[in-house]
This record gives sequence, structure tokens and C-alpha cells, in this order.
Amino acid sequence: MADGDPKGLHEPQLAPIGPGIDRVDGRLKVTGHATYAYEYGSDEYHGPEPLVGFIVPATIARGRIVSIDSHAAETAPGVRLVLTHANAPPQAPWGPLDAEDRFARAQPVLGNDLVREYGDPVAFVVADTFEQARAAALSIAVTYDREPIEVDLPPSVSDAKLLGKMDGGEKPQSAVGDAAAAFARAPVRIDVRYDTPYQNHAQMEPHASLAVWDGPRVTIWCSSQMVDSHRAGVAATLQMSKSNVRTVSRYIGGGFGGKLPYFSDQILAALAAKQLGKPVKVALTRQQMFHLTTHRTQTFQHLQVGAARDGALQSLSHDAFVQTARYDNFVENVAQPTRGLYACPNISTLHKVVKLDLPRSDSMRAPGDAVGSIGLECALDELAAAIDMDPVKLRLRNDTMVDPTRHEPYTSRKLAECLTEGAARFGWDKRPTRPGTLREGEWLTGYGMASAFRGNMLRNASAQITLAPDGHLTVRLAMTDIGTGSYTILTQIAAESMGVDPSQVTVLMGDTDFPPTAGSGGSFGAETSGSAVFRACESLRAALAQAAVADSASPLHGAAIETISFEGGRIVAGGQGEMLGALAGRMSPGGVVAKGQVSKTEAPKGKTEASFGAHFAEVAVNAITGEVRMRRMLGVFAVGRVLNAKTLSSQLMGGMIWGLSSALTEENVVDTRFGDFANHDLANYHVPIQADVGSVEVHFLQEQDPEVNPIGVKGGGELGICGSAAAIGNAVYNATGIRVRSFPISPDKLLPHLPALSFVRV
Ligand code: MOS
Repeated sequence: MADGDPKGLHEPQLAPIGPGIDRVDGRLKVTGHATYAYEYGSDEYHGPEPLVGFIVPATIARGRIVSIDSHAAETAPGVRLVLTHANAPPQAPWGPLDAEDRFARAQPVLGNDLVREYGDPVAFVVADTFEQARAAALSIAVTYDREPIEVDLPPSVSDAKLLGKMDGGEKPQSAVGDAAAAFARAPVRIDVRYDTPYQNHAQMEPHASLAVWDGPRVTIWCSSQMVDSHRAGVAATLQMSKSNVRTVSRYIGGGFGGKLPYFSDQILAALAAKQLGKPVKVALTRQQMFHLTTHRTQTFQHLQVGAARDGALQSLSHDAFVQTARYDNFVENVAQPTRGLYACPNISTLHKVVKLDLPRSDSMRAPGDAVGSIGLECALDELAAAIDMDPVKLRLRNDTMVDPTRHEPYTSRKLAECLTEGAARFGWDKRPTRPGTLREGEWLTGYGMASAFRGNMLRNASAQITLAPDGHLTVRLAMTDIGTGSYTILTQIAAESMGVDPSQVTVLMGDTDFPPTAGSGGSFGAETSGSAVFRACESLRAALAQAAVADSASPLHGAAIETISFEGGRIVAGGQGEMLGALAGRMSPGGVVAKGQVSKTEAPKGKTEASFGAHFAEVAVNAITGEVRMRRMLGVFAVGRVLNAKTLSSQLMGGMIWGLSSALTEENVVDTRFGDFANHDLANYHVPIQADVGSVEVHFLQEQDPEVNPIGVKGGGELGICGSAAAIGNAVYNATGIRVRSFPISPDKLLPHLPALSFVRV
């Protein structure tokens, strides 16, 4: 950073672990000055007070609308508009299914009389106030022609289909060697089924939109992880030019993948605002969030693990069954960790989907790995128990520096170091080797661990940086900050690259008027947008250096370019120098502008990229009630360069706590009569609160990976949830000797197997 080494023109080294500076937007957030989509009257919008919309969701999961009686609503106080399929403007058909960017598909709302899922919008009421809109919406009577539904994954597993490709473009099937034959002759065989439930994102900020038209152009303030995709999707739906849609998302109260797609709020706000000639805003209610957006699919996983008695893996097979909406083709790539985590000569994976009359499944934090790691890492724990081997040693025994499915080396991989360092820091040697033997009063105590693994990916991004004559740098790009710290790390990259203090940099984001980026998702945000900003800075440094040596008014006039460096807000060479702003002012009174970009095609060829880590957990299980308390968790991670230890720790810690949630409480249950999720509010959908969380510690290993991208950063945002639920599950086993293979591990699943208290070995 600013107090670091001078930054030479051609060697702008970022520190291996950047300092944990505070969030640059922290003050705005805690003082309530960071404006979210539903808020207005911000710096950006000074028009009339928006009208307010309320969505009427379908109460059936499949069928047709027979009639809508909206008379009372239309004449209710304050109501300006009632939109239904009968009067909604024409829109493009849904899709296409094979869209290269599925988050930019056309998604018509109120397009016809069909209901495809519980919660499908059937009417939209716009009124002067929220209360008027809601009251009128509740008076609308809809009659349906209801069709039979299929919403139950287990009985339908025999109907499961192989689709062409999965999330991330991977094929649904993979085979190395002959896993079935190797399993049949393996000395030790683990043959188990694990299942994980439906889950919902439950972001603090619900989806919300404010649409404002200006002639043919609409601006939508919304809560979006990918503003460029959403602009394209809205333009496609409304059959207008992309250049006439501006999507803005400055601050976002949690994304987790649930804001990769856009939803009906954006389309309905835009349609109604156009029809009324007035701004319209709408937010989904908390209850609506559970059906009108996406969720993580339930999974059924069948694992077969064959090994030698010394723990060497001989076969791994992982078959997964997942749900997708009847009209969609998303496939959660559950067996992804099994394809790449451990050395094994025979690996097979298979993903089949069941199309059900449920809302769309799509990405939720570490899609694939978050749930697949439960199956794989718990099955390996079962193997360790079967051969009486330490679970850490079992992982070390099967470590590899080569992806066992692609047969390509990893650009960097410190799994073994994470396991070893984690075991030492955690005090793993104190783990009871025999399950169910460590008891403190009513509490059975145990330790568990699991590996963490998440593929790394680079996407496309571009950025622009402007150096003003006062020396201030302004970075613009259509990146988003979903709470991860993007504003902060991009500020740091620009400051460090230009040799200025972070206070001299302003990063502006979340706006399709800025250079496009892939946005936030898949843990690619920091490395992708960060690389674009880094390159814009490289380009700016080059322009400044060339101008300085050619400018007779510069103290660097005639200096050799390669002697130039940037430090303390100055451009310097050979003991001479000047302030960046002074040079910029002479070059261009409006400031000097430079651009940079990075492309996914630059990802290293013939190598595999991934982030790694190791989770350790200690739990106590109440022998009488079956209640599980997490006492402490430790995660040790290696993710290449750490840009900001503070924001990355928060990310990883959040993921670890989410793993705790997946392990113990988080679950949505389908009401098979109606095709809805039964627990659709935060009173019934159980995520951990402060009192549920014990000690959580995050530690990074230093790792340099110059191959992955220009800034050597690998993804860390999702790694924390990969393996953490398995570590908890394995700790519950170690504490009790009870192996629960259906997540979450709720007390009812433990109770029948808990030893009577008097028989618990003390
Ligand atoms: Mo992530 S689940 O790709 O936001």
C-alpha cells in the first residue's frame, strides 16, 4: 500500500497479503447513507416520489388462470394501475434455454394465463403508497384451473434425466478408469447415500427495483450481482435496445447467487412505470423471497468409495440427483469436488435432474461444491473410521498436485499445508480416536474435519481510471459489491498500483454506464474486476511516464522510462519527481483517462485452478436432547494473494457459519399438496444467530500463483462453505458415534440413537 515499496513502472508488485484496511464504504453503511435499491431521493434520483407496487403471487404451482376479479382493487383508494396477463404489454418469450448467459434471458412477467410455479406473479397493483397497494392486492380474487403437480424429488428419482451440461458448462457425467470394477474388488468399500435439503438465500436485502423512464430510456435501480446481464435481460424481455436500459446497483445487502438472476420486480417496475409515466418501485416481501426467486436444490447423493487398507483410494463414484424447474435446465454440479480433490485412478460422477413443478433452482453460494463436499467429505470420514485411520492422514495419503479427472497440474495447491497447519493450530491430536468417548456431563464432545475445495475462474471485465489535476483517482466499472468488500479491494489495487494513499481513490461501481464486467459471482469477482483495474492502472502509469519524459515542464523530462516509479502520490525518477496531479493537469485539464481489461480466455491453458483449505470443528451434543452446539471452528485457506485479510476473513467466516447452518438447522420443506416451501420466513427458516455460533477462526497461508491472472488472486468468497458442513457432521459422529446422512442433523435424527445417559461412558 501507500507505505510499501515504490512501485516501478514494470514491476508493480502487490503485497502477498494486503493489509486489512477497513471497508471504504463502512462509514456510509453504518450511518445509513449507503442507498439500496428500494430507497430513493438519493444523490442519483431527485424526481417525484415513486408510486409503489405490490405483487400478487399465484397460490397454485401449475395450471391456468381462469378469472381475475380486480374490480375492488381498481377502485380502491390510491390505486393507479392493476396489471394482469389481460392487460400487460407484450414481451419476448421466456428464454432461450440455451442462452450463453442464462442471467440475460428474456423473462416475461404476466405474459399469459399460465402458472408455472407457486408464487408466479398473477397481478401487480400500483398505488400511491405501499399500504394502499398491498390492501388492494389482497382484495384481488383469482380462480385457477389447477393441474396435478409433481414436487417430490425422492419418488421421482427414477424419472431423472441427464441434461447436456451443468452450471459452469461442465458435462453431467465423467469417467476416469473403471470405478465400478475397481470398487467391486476394493479391500475396503464404503457405499452410502447422503442427502441435503432445499435451501434459500435469505439475504438481508430483498429483491427490489425502482424504474424511472426518460423518453425511450429506462433506468432500473435494483439489487443485482450482474448489472450488465440484467440490462441485457430486461432489454430482451421488453424488446428494446440494450442502450436504452440502464441498470444500477450501488449497494447490495447480500447476494449469495440469488441476485445472479433478475426477477419479476425489475420487469414489473419497468412495465408499470412506462404505462403510468411515473417512477414505480417494488420490493419482494420476505415471504415472497422464498418463491419468487431461486433456491438451492435438494440433493440425493450416492457415493461409493473403494480403498486399500492403507487408505489409498482405488475408486470414487458420486451420483447426484437434483431438482430443476420444469421449464428450466439448471443442473447443480454436485460431484465437482469428487472430480478434482483426491488422487484416484478410477473416478466416475453422474448428475441427473428431475424437473418438478417447483420454482427455479439456481446458484447458491458455491453451487455444487457446498453440497457435494458434504457427500464426499463425510464418506471419506466413514472410510477413515472403517480402516481406523486418522481423517487428516487419509486426506494427506490421497493428496495430488494433478487434477485426477483432467490429468492437468494445478497452478497452485496447498491442501496438504492447510491440513497440517490446521491440525496443529486446532489441537487435532486431542481428538478422541474412539467416537462417543469424550463426555462432559450431559455433553458428548467430538472433533471433525474436512477439506475445502473450490474451482477458480477468471471472467471478462473492463475498467476505466481517471487521474484528476488535483491528484484524485476515480475508478469506474460495472462491478458490484454484494457485501464482500469489492469497493475496498478495488480501491486498494488502484492505490497500491499508483503509489497513492487509498484516500486518494474513489471507486464507482454498479452501473451499466460504466465499462462492463461479469459482476460478482462464482468467487471470480475480486480477481476478474481486480485484474481489469490493475491493467487500467498499468495503462495509466505508462501514459503518465511517456508524457513526463516528453514534457519540458516536467522534472522528469528526458528521463529513461525504465527508471520511473510511482510513490507517495508522485511520479519519480533519479531523485526528481512531481505530483501526479500536476502532470495530469498539464496533460489534460479534464484529467487523464486510461482503460484496462481482462478476458476469460487468458486463464492458463492445460492447467487446473482451484482454491484449497481445511476445516476443523469441535461440537458438543447433548446426550438427552440431541441438541448440537458448535464450540469452535477453524478454517485454514490458501487462495493465492490475499488482497485484504479483513474482508476476506469475513467472507470465509460467513461461509463457515453457513456450513454450520447447513449442517444443523437450515432446511426448506416442500408442502407437496401445494408445491410451496412450507417454511417461508425467517422465523421458520432457521439460520444461525450469534448465540448459535461459537468461536470461528480463519487463517491464511501465504501462496503465490502468478499463473492464474494478472494479480495472482484466487477466489475465496465461496471456499468457506465448501467442507464446513461436513466438518460439523464428522464432529457429530466423533462425539456420538452416530452417522446422520440426511442433512441437516436436527435433534430428531440423533435422539433415537443417543445412548441412555446412564450408559454413556465417562
Ligand atoms: Mo455465486 S452462488 O456464483 O453468487
